[in-house]
Amino acid sequence: MSILDRLTGQDRPSPANAEFIAVLADEASAALLRQFVLEGMVSHAHVLVGGVRDLIGLLGQVERPPRQLVVDVSGSTMSNTELAELAAVCPPGVAVVVVGERNDVGTYRELLRMGVDDYLVKPLTMDLLRRVLNRRTGRSVPAQQIRTGKVVACVGSRGGVGTSTLVANLGWQLAGPLERRVAAIDLDPFGGALDLMLSAPNNHGLADLLANVNQLDPNFVERSFAQAAPRLFLLAARAELDQSGVLPPRAVLTLLAELRKLFHYVFLDLPARGGELTAALLADADTVAVVSEPSVVATRETLRLIQLAETRDDRVPLMLLVNHPRQPGHAELKLADFEEAVGRRASHVLPFDRDAAGLGENLGPPLISRRGPLALALRRVADDLAGRRSAEGGRRLLPDWLPLPGLAPARGG
Ligand SMILES: Nc1ncnc2c1ncn2[C@@H]1O[C@H](COP(=O)(O)OP(=O)(O)O)[C@@H](O)[C@H]1O
Ligand SMILES: [Mg+2]
Repeated sequence: MSILDRLTGQDRPSPANAEFIAVLADEASAALLRQFVLEGMVSHAHVLVGGVRDLIGLLGQVERPPRQLVVDVSGSTMSNTELAELAAVCPPGVAVVVVGERNDVGTYRELLRMGVDDYLVKPLTMDLLRRVLNRRTGRSVPAQQIRTGKVVACVGSRGGVGTSTLVANLGWQLAGPLERRVAAIDLDPFGGALDLMLSAPNNHGLADLLANVNQLDPNFVERSFAQAAPRLFLLAARAELDQSGVLPPRAVLTLLAELRKLFHYVFLDLPARGGELTAALLADADTVAVVSEPSVVATRETLRLIQLAETRDDRVPLMLLVNHPRQPGHAELKLADFEEAVGRRASHVLPFDRDAAGLGENLGPPLISRRGPLALALRRVADDLAGRRSAEGGRRLLPDWLPLPGLAPARGG
């Protein structure tokens, strides 16, 4: 086996641990990339001949995302659907350089708008590769973090309304059938049960990360999570009941900034409706999901939660999820009355289903993967979060990070 093979990772049967993956349409360009990898001693590199589809297939096999991707779109129609599919399997923190044949400003701008870091027009030269890739393959983070994952803060109007059930099931659905990289964070160190709901170990990773929040690197972060399913990771902590200051708000915010680069979705299971941490996280989240039930107490608290979420100066996308964790009864408001009282329509209504919920709580996999009206309603919420048409089998929309308003870089022609 040649040094080149060892360096470019061609000896490995799968690119599972590749940090640099390049897929080129023709052998000459691939050879140039191999030379670049050799010259720059790029470790864990995987270079092959193929197209966007091949890259999508490869990424489906890796557990840990690579740092850098180079993908050749020449010959293909370079359709938005193809690149959108690539986007869906490629976590936000990965730098993507597209290679192609078209040399017009429109193409370049469109690619940048979609979150691509750079566009190289063929024919490739070593000089061009050095200029564009060297600043990216090094240990430094890309200068511009264009795409970021979405933090979804889930908070209940009272205990027992189903907040954790929602986090577990939405996380499961987005990571499984919808193939996003998902982090679920249990922010109740005094008895949160997300680990049980996801059949994952509670490994105290959250406390470790927060204690070392100024020395976060992707490997350390990755190790601190417990894996619940492919692409689904849990972060939790367990503290003594008399312990205080377990989750310092500033440290949690610093951690979230890092997690946004590594995951498409970060779900926060917030146990408390108020306090410094909740207020800070509701202010930082990209989406706030307020979970409630149509009881009198919950109605009053829902109103207060919505007001808290709306104290931000920019409007927060707020999802109001009306769950029925109890058998429908007398103590319940009609949906219309509930909506009038809180001044907002419910985004989704989830029916009561004791058997399904009980099963999901005690035995994995969660109920969202089963049949029945509650599972169906949950899948609609997941589709909504992923920016897809709600009906199952409905039209697939572009992944929601694609046009990130306000984050598009001000560069290009
Ligand atoms: N739609 C539903 N139908 C029946 N039971 C439900 C439903 N949603 C939640 N539950 C049950 O309600 C209980 C409380 O749910 P949980 O998610 O732990 O609430 P929270 O996190 O808000 O305290 C759990 O036993 C759960 O299985
Ligand atoms: Mg809970």
